[in-house]
Amino acid sequence: MIKLARNIYYKYFPSGNISTYIRFLYLKRAMRGISFSRALDAGCGTGAITRFFADNYPGTSFVGYDIDASRIEQAKASTIVGDSNNTTFHIQNLMEMDESEEYDFRSLRFVLQYVLDQQVRVLC
Ligand SMILES: C[S@@+](CC[C@H](N)C(=O)[O-])C[C@H]1O[C@@H](n2cnc3c(N)ncnc32)[C@H](O)[C@@H]1O
Repeated sequence: MIKLARNIYYKYFPSGNISTYIRFLYLKRAMRGISFSRALDAGCGTGAITRFFADNYPGTSFVGYDIDASRIEQAKASTIVGDSNNTTFHIQNLMEMDESEEYDFRSLRFVLQYVLDQQVRVLC
């Protein structure tokens, strides 16, 4: 029962509030018809948004990177509870990413405010 409730919660309120959910409905609409196979959620935090994408794109592999080990731990724990099995989470400083890694979709939400101006160019 608790598992079902958590699944429903994560599916519809990935970030814990309805305004985020509404924004994502718009994003989902804007992305209609676009397909991608390998995606990165840079600065994924606890992975709520990663899972939201993953649930909506079951054929895509999502990688979540975050510098904060405790958040990555939470993201991994939530994945066990959640229903998406196309996500992996890793501790990674975005500034030290391997440049050979290729993704055909990158998400970067609420992260730029944490990095210095000159580093923003690296991410974008
Ligand atoms: C406000 S949270 C946003 C989390 C998630 N993107 C979301 O929208 O819910 C910002 C995240 O960026 C991460 N972060 C900041 N600088 C980073 C860096 N250099 N490398 C990786 N992650 C970083 C933080 O640890 C934090 O989890």
